[in-house]
Amino acid sequence: MADTALNLLVEELRQPDGRRLWIVDENIPPQLLPPQPNTQVIGNRFDLIRAMRQQGWNAELSDFDLSQWPASSLEKLIYRVSKEKAVVHHLINEAARVLRPDGELILIGDKGEGIKTYARKAQQRLGGSKEEQKQGSVWRVTVSLGEADSALLDDQDYPLLRDFQPADAELYLTKPGLFGWNKIDRGSAFLVENLAAMTGQALPLEGRILDLGCGFGYLALNACATSAALTCTDNNAAALIACRANLNARQFTQAEVIASDAGDSLEGTFDIILCNPPFHAGFGVEGDLTDRFLRQARRLLDSNGTACFVVNQHIPLERKARGLFARIHCHADNGHFKLVQLKEPVNKPQ
Ligand SMILES: C[S@@+](CC[C@H](N)C(=O)[O-])C[C@H]1O[C@@H](n2cnc3c(N)ncnc32)[C@H](O)[C@@H]1O
Repeated sequence: MADTALNLLVEELRQPDGRRLWIVDENIPPQLLPPQPNTQVIGNRFDLIRAMRQQGWNAELSDFDLSQWPASSLEKLIYRVSKEKAVVHHLINEAARVLRPDGELILIGDKGEGIKTYARKAQQRLGGSKEEQKQGSVWRVTVSLGEADSALLDDQDYPLLRDFQPADAELYLTKPGLFGWNKIDRGSAFLVENLAAMTGQALPLEGRILDLGCGFGYLALNACATSAALTCTDNNAAALIACRANLNARQFTQAEVIASDAGDSLEGTFDIILCNPPFHAGFGVEGDLTDRFLRQARRLLDSNGTACFVVNQHIPLERKARGLFARIHCHADNGHFKLVQLKEPVNKPQ
């Protein structure tokens, strides 16, 4: 299924068109095809955008923000649909604004991902013709811009940050487009409860602290005081925006928020690393993502520091950490999540 969708996408991108925009996310492999003329790329994943730029694509990291594109400026918008409905609706809404008269929105996706419904909604919003090409369960849909319907699809106000106030907890700013944007991750809450015991320090933590895969900043905000030497990093554009906003709202003026792939663009070392690593990448389960986080944690942890990880119970983090840290200790296991403490990084790359 994934291959069929990508084949259709490549076929589409190889068409010699006028000015067009290709929207990419974690479902697009970085080496899908060589740079194409007249094609600008925007996407919400730092690792993907960096890799595409290195190949020569004109690519920009963005939380699917098309606001800098003038109205009626594009001939085509090409998009293999994302997992999150709010993102798809937001981009269909924007297509009606940025496409020229008779411009086309190309949507590619599987029936199981809702492509049939998206095709119908896109035609309703754009008001032009609709053409469907099917290969098995995968559809390529071409919708042209006619008399656009002024009614917007419900995108949950995708671009906007909003307040999120969990019971008995502090207020956070968050938005759709980032992992678990409207909940507190239970694993992360378990980690915060145990941080003092894991680090041997009362909260707020002291020292140079890294929140690796920060999301909207839950771990950092609960572990640190405003004066902390804090760095937060994530791969996802929405997470970087939300985390920065939360830190600003709490006057964490010295904290840095940096885009990276599992911390790879960070320099220096940290006394404490906090991490709830991602498990799913796009439509697949990417085992080596955990390895990438562990290798970067080794590189970034001070020799006297402590990395505190929380993972689903079935992830063999202790085994994966062998050879990277001399001291690996499962601090607690609540039947769903385990907390693993890593110390003394070994064989650090120079
Ligand atoms: C399980 S969430 C944890 C979020 C947050 N720390 C919390 O505790 O709520 C994992 C985070 O890792 C981020 N992530 C996924 N892949 C990444 C990568 N390659 N590099 C950096 N961060 C990544 C996701 O965007 C997400 O914010």
